[in-house]
Amino acid sequence: MRTQIYDVAELNEEALRNIDVAGKILAEGGLVAFPTETVYGLGANAMNPAAAADIYLAKGRPSDNPLIVHIADISQLEKLASGQMEVALALAEAFWPGPLTMILPKQKCVPDVTTGGLNTVAVRMPQDAAALELIRRAGVPVAAPSANLSGRPSPTAGAHVIQDLFGRVDVILTGNDCRIGIESTILDLTGEKAVVLRPGLLTPEELGTVLGYIPEIDPGILKKPGSEEGQNPAPRAPGMKYKHYAPKAPMEIFSGDPRRVRQAIADKKAAAEAEGKAVGVILFEENAFERAAHDLFARLRDMDDRGVDLILAGAVNDRDSKGFALMNRMLKSAGYRITHV
Ligand code: TXA
Ligand code: MG
Repeated sequence: MRTQIYDVAELNEEALRNIDVAGKILAEGGLVAFPTETVYGLGANAMNPAAAADIYLAKGRPSDNPLIVHIADISQLEKLASGQMEVALALAEAFWPGPLTMILPKQKCVPDVTTGGLNTVAVRMPQDAAALELIRRAGVPVAAPSANLSGRPSPTAGAHVIQDLFGRVDVILTGNDCRIGIESTILDLTGEKAVVLRPGLLTPEELGTVLGYIPEIDPGILKKPGSEEGQNPAPRAPGMKYKHYAPKAPMEIFSGDPRRVRQAIADKKAAAEAEGKAVGVILFEENAFERAAHDLFARLRDMDDRGVDLILAGAVNDRDSKGFALMNRMLKSAGYRITHV
């Protein structure tokens, strides 16, 4: 497939013309990758089953893993979803456009391919100006998972998307690096109380200011998937059960007192280098969660590009809700290999 690449970092006349072309391609069933404030998305017309199915093919993604439907206007929400709309609209007013995805019962018009066969739908209004313009010009809701090949770290720069999807999609819109850098917070509103299915930089405490209570985290994501069979419920967001974000090299995390962590990483690095291995180290500044989220996936991809044999990382403080979201991604990247020192 021939892939067009358009730079939309600045929304000048040329960029708007190209976004218009991309919008038409989306409306007609094509695939368009685009920047959002969290990570890049791989978009298709959410109301067109064949187009949505093409996303799974382009990504190499299991088709039981549902897609997030992106909208450009809050009024589109009621056409796609039903259920606790009063709560959903209050959250939308407070946090959209932004890194919040809400799960609600789906309306009939949403195709099963888009929701991976579920009777619920995930909806989000992204904040990136190019993304909003694209969705408006497409004139349809846009189903979009992260624009990486399945299993690779989510893309936070145009170059990452080109690396993964060139030749597999019709258009790649490249913009500035994603401001946030990890995926949106997913909040399930189908039960009596809201539940966080995927943590993100929008925290349960912030959601609590609108909900009137702090939502719980889905217990299914607190442990390694498949561990303690029988006691550990499956994650309720199907995507959270898959191995994710994995760099090519094995990754190990060290947690505990920061000085001991640094020492353990230095020792392990020296030992691996003595065996002739190339070692990459990820140590974020303490409590600088936003900076760390912004950098994490790009750092992992950079290590892949440099061909390192081993990645050693220091844990971040997961008692902080932003730190918890970050650790969720880091643990998945490391296949849950973590050592307390
Ligand atoms: O920040 C984001 O959310 C990015 C950008 C592109 O918007 N998108 C993203 O999509 O991360 P994706 O496909 O990589 O992750 C979507 C997650 C998956 O874990 C999926 O299982 C879950 O959302 N999901 C989608 N629909 C769902 C539903 N109806 N019920 C439960 N989980 C759902
Ligand atoms: Mg993803």
